[in-house]
Amino acid sequence: MHFPGAHILSVNQFELADVERIFDVADSMVPFAHRERMTKVLDGAILGNMFFEPSTRTRLSFGCAFNLLGGEVRETTDVKTSSISKGESLYDTARVISGYNDIIVMRHPQGGSVAEFAKASRVPVINAGDGPNEHPSQALLDLYTIRKELGSAGKSISGMHIAMVGDLKHGRTVHSLSRLIQLYDNIHFTMISPKELCMPEEIVEELRRNGHTVIETEDMEQGLVGNDTLYLTRIQEERFNSKMEADIYRGRFRLNEAIYTRYCQPKTVIMHPLPRDSRADANELDNDLNQHPNLAIFRQTDNGVLVRMALFALSLDVCEQVHKSAREVNWYTERRF
Ligand code: NCD
Repeated sequence: MHFPGAHILSVNQFELADVERIFDVADSMVPFAHRERMTKVLDGAILGNMFFEPSTRTRLSFGCAFNLLGGEVRETTDVKTSSISKGESLYDTARVISGYNDIIVMRHPQGGSVAEFAKASRVPVINAGDGPNEHPSQALLDLYTIRKELGSAGKSISGMHIAMVGDLKHGRTVHSLSRLIQLYDNIHFTMISPKELCMPEEIVEELRRNGHTVIETEDMEQGLVGNDTLYLTRIQEERFNSKMEADIYRGRFRLNEAIYTRYCQPKTVIMHPLPRDSRADANELDNDLNQHPNLAIFRQTDNGVLVRMALFALSLDVCEQVHKSAREVNWYTERRF
């Protein structure tokens, strides 16, 4: 795809070469994210960071990524205080806001809303999650993490076994990630969920049509066996009609150290898009795995900054200038990343 000026709305817009290009640019951002070098390449540019649904890491990491490239960030974080609550259409909002910013990141509770917004926007728009539909930047950072984690064990993405666990019906991260991984060859998916919360049929069919293997099961212990990566998700309570309905499924599938050790092969990478639901009745990923070397959840969040820097640099066409304009920082001492 042609990145400069492009909207990033869905993983379907990427070919394998595009994903590899994003990952190469993300790799090149490491010294900046580590604060060893700095750039002001986006000096004077403004990001409109618009989140009409709760978010911590996605919003902050997009903002942080833009700041690390030298740009400024303006935020809207609440539907109630925005004119959307007065009945303003996405078209009008997009026309107005795109006049104030050079690029927009948007999260919205309705599937398809960010694409609709992008149609009226005069600047690039990045989808940071549209309802249960898609979350492309999360899928990119997840795949980037998988590549690094498997790579350090001498394995590649093609041929990998991945289990996705939890609310696969409403989870936009697993929708985007499974669609994105299928750009590689011969992936073996195990979808572990309650029947009522299974992966949408059209995604399963698409994966199978493209030559991948998909097993669907409600048996977590069986499903955990033989995977290179586990990708856990929380029950997406906000997509249910009531908390009571979500409670039926909460806590059904939990991973802790004992279960991990018993069923998973020793190098299995443990991932979660976060937030994990750490309330006692949910706890899909137990704190007793916090020190486990294969727990990649905080490496995922760190990688999110790199991947989002790459998306900005590509979309605003400054990849080369980033490095030309770079200088050493003088306060840097040491950071672990
Ligand atoms: C996810 C999301 O918002 O879809 N969080 C995130 O962006 N890292 C997952 C979730 O909320 O469960």
